[in-house]
Amino acid sequence: MGTRTAHQQPATHDWRFAAAPGRLPLIGHAVQMARRPTEFLSSLPAHGDLVELRLGPNRAFLPCHPDLVQQILLNARVYDTGGPVKEKARPILGNGLITSDWADHRRQRRLVQPAFHTARLPAYAEVMQYESEVEARAWEAGRAIDISNTMQALTARVTARALFSTDIAGKAVAEIQHCLPVIVHGAYRQAMDPTGLFAKLPIAANRRFDEALTRMHRLINQIVEDYRRTDDDRGDLLSALLTAEDPETGGRLDDQEVHDQVMTLLLAGIETTASALAWTFHLLGRNPKVEAALHAELDEVLDGRVAGYADIPDLDYSRRVFTESLRLYPPAWLYTRTTTEATELAGRELPPNSDILVSPYVLHHNPALFKDPESFDPDRWLPERTKDVSRGSYLPFGAGSRKCIGDVFGMTEATIALATIASRWRLRPVPNTKVRPRPHMSLSAGPLPMIPSRR
Ligand code: HEM
Repeated sequence: MGTRTAHQQPATHDWRFAAAPGRLPLIGHAVQMARRPTEFLSSLPAHGDLVELRLGPNRAFLPCHPDLVQQILLNARVYDTGGPVKEKARPILGNGLITSDWADHRRQRRLVQPAFHTARLPAYAEVMQYESEVEARAWEAGRAIDISNTMQALTARVTARALFSTDIAGKAVAEIQHCLPVIVHGAYRQAMDPTGLFAKLPIAANRRFDEALTRMHRLINQIVEDYRRTDDDRGDLLSALLTAEDPETGGRLDDQEVHDQVMTLLLAGIETTASALAWTFHLLGRNPKVEAALHAELDEVLDGRVAGYADIPDLDYSRRVFTESLRLYPPAWLYTRTTTEATELAGRELPPNSDILVSPYVLHHNPALFKDPESFDPDRWLPERTKDVSRGSYLPFGAGSRKCIGDVFGMTEATIALATIASRWRLRPVPNTKVRPRPHMSLSAGPLPMIPSRR
């Protein structure tokens, strides 16, 4: 047994431990996890605070109580990112913030953090404002659009132009839009394949994946090389990465490290924000009262203007709408940790290399943590009501040293896009469209056709 750390709970707490029901010989809970993971995982808090699952021969633990989740996320040394999913992500992402181990992660985070400093946000917000306006102008009344695709294209343009502000951005956007969906899809397939054999098959899907990955690496190499020729700070994310200096050691990121961080930011920042925005429009389309309240705020605050950085503090309701959408459909619905040493959780001894599943989705849909959890109620985020939300129950951006580095960037981007688009357009679902959350790399809505009408 390892020594108890400050983050570990006293053993006196009366934790409930359970084995997940429905386990089959050999495969364990693999079928439930493959078919309906969100429903299956959300059913487990009823059984215990810490629930053990079997995925094939491997054990995995799902903490269902927010205190246990905090204990894990706030102790990144013992509960490091890791396991098979991370190993499969390494050839794609290299050694960046997501794939680095605990010790190196701290150095990397010190070097990447300045790129997300609040002083840089107004410049990024200009890109968000410009691209949201371009999007809002492109739609035609009555002509259905796939809001998932549209939001993906918007966040790809925003992230690429925030990263690279030079002329190369145009070419980069086209390449990213072509390659990223192929990479995300392929990475998910590989992550789900316990044998590791799928990636080695000489099939068209793998060839497309390899080609997309090669193209992305080539693009990023070319851009980093271009930027290195002059070491100017262009005010964009890439300049911030290239000029960052570690305050503790004076060290900098080398070209390969910058490359890996760029790939990481593209993969972590585009799909997540796009899924969340698509879900938000879906929810608004089905909740006319919430939509009317949002429109009232937008009309009052913006009065026909495009939303910008300075408007954000006044867009309270818009923010609550997006916050509530992130509760119902958290894009990062599941992430993993692996114990680096023997430790104790909820009074159980966990051996080293135990896999832990952290699921914001499970917390956010637990009726013990959120009253009437399936209802879309932005006002649950009113200051006087947030006291009902217990600490650690709401984790769309994670917590601790691995908390999303792009949380403020993503919230700013989403608020500006939502406000700009919703101030001009009302979106309604195409009749008879069935929407089913797809818990893949991010919790996406899949194709989501909606019909815009002018406001
Ligand atoms: C609504 C949008 C977003 C959501 C819901 C989201 C969610 C998350 C979550 C939950 C984590 C932590 C995962 C873990 O603990 O294992 C994370 C990490 C990360 N996110 Fe985000 N994210 C969003 C937007 C962004 C954006 C816009 C960027 C960059 C432009 C970004 C970059 C990253 C990076 C680099 C990490 C790894 C941080 C680290 O380990 O130090 N994310 N994100």
